[in-house]
Amino acid sequence: MTDRLADLKALFTATFQAAPRHAVRAPGRVNLIGEHTDYNDGFCLPMAIERDVLMVYAPRTDTTIRVVSAQQPGVETFDVGTSSGATIPKGVAPASRWADYIKGCAQVLRDEGHALRGMDLALTGNVPLGSGLSSSAALEVACMHALLQALGTVLPGARIATLAQRAENSYVGTNCGILDQLSSACAVAGQAMLMDCRTLALTPAPLPGGVAVVISDTGRRRGLVDSAYNERRRQCEAGAKALRVSHLRDVSLHGLWQARQAGTLDAASLRRCEHVVAENGRTQAAFACLRAGDAVALGQLMDQSHADLRDKFEVSCRELDTMVAIARGLPGCLGSRMTGAGFGGCAVSLVQSSATAAFTERLAAGYGAVYPELPIAVYVTQPAAGAGPVAL
Ligand code: GLA
Repeated sequence: MTDRLADLKALFTATFQAAPRHAVRAPGRVNLIGEHTDYNDGFCLPMAIERDVLMVYAPRTDTTIRVVSAQQPGVETFDVGTSSGATIPKGVAPASRWADYIKGCAQVLRDEGHALRGMDLALTGNVPLGSGLSSSAALEVACMHALLQALGTVLPGARIATLAQRAENSYVGTNCGILDQLSSACAVAGQAMLMDCRTLALTPAPLPGGVAVVISDTGRRRGLVDSAYNERRRQCEAGAKALRVSHLRDVSLHGLWQARQAGTLDAASLRRCEHVVAENGRTQAAFACLRAGDAVALGQLMDQSHADLRDKFEVSCRELDTMVAIARGLPGCLGSRMTGAGFGGCAVSLVQSSATAAFTERLAAGYGAVYPELPIAVYVTQPAAGAGPVAL
């Protein structure tokens, strides 16, 4: 962190010929279990990871925002003072689309009635992009913190998360649930959290002793993910409607069994609903495992989650299935599954701490032998703290 912060301050000073005044960070997240449940008002079990977006900034006296990223060329400039009701224009060139996340946050706060101040801002991120570890949520949540701090406004983490989600839904145009932003905004160091996506209540619990969380990136980036993700959402909404509930959260396994008998749902919708209903149950059971310190049972639930995501929800892919299968065959692995939206990105495995070094090496070698053309990355991570200010 110290080196990254020093480099970022140097980038800020070189770009804006002044020193930054404040700093903030927001982490990515890994979801241990509870996938495609958030937009069904269900349960998730995420933790923040030790990779984040770091920002340094200085308020300006006008309403101009200038942003530079250590990972992107050029400076993006836009005005947040234009008359109310007007929309901040999105980037036209694909190379400037990353700044839409920042503009989206500004737009949402303006729509909320905040008279935004301008600022100069430099950012750097080490959450891999498009890999299911919530790089965009980290960017949005860090940005919300910076914009609000410049106004002297303090909001609860859950409120920051919903505003950041709105920026992604309504400005960027991705129809995500609340999982990523709430994890980034509210995570607790050293703990995973049971997230109730209906009430936004978070209940933290530490990982069982003697196990590590290992993230392995397939190197396959999610193609066409938005359309497939939105299709799954629509299918879940249609399922809830057919079952006469507002969200699938309110459906029991028995209710699904009755629907199957009555032929209320077509075969594909039934499979989607079965995953969501079972996954909500598994996620609550997984939290009980955390409380009981039962890593073996937790691992089994992760395995079941992957099987359903592959066979019933159909959001896995060959690379993820290969990664999970290799992980499961290695000594010390208690459970493994895809994490995030799917269609590529990362797997998460629960591994006995004593076996972790050999596990990461053999997983990388095994996967690399099947997909030599894809860059594999394996990270062992501890549960990190949620977003907040950083001392400059
Ligand atoms: C993406 C979305 C989340 C959630 C997951 C799947 O990460 O941004 O809201 O739906 O997929 O669990």
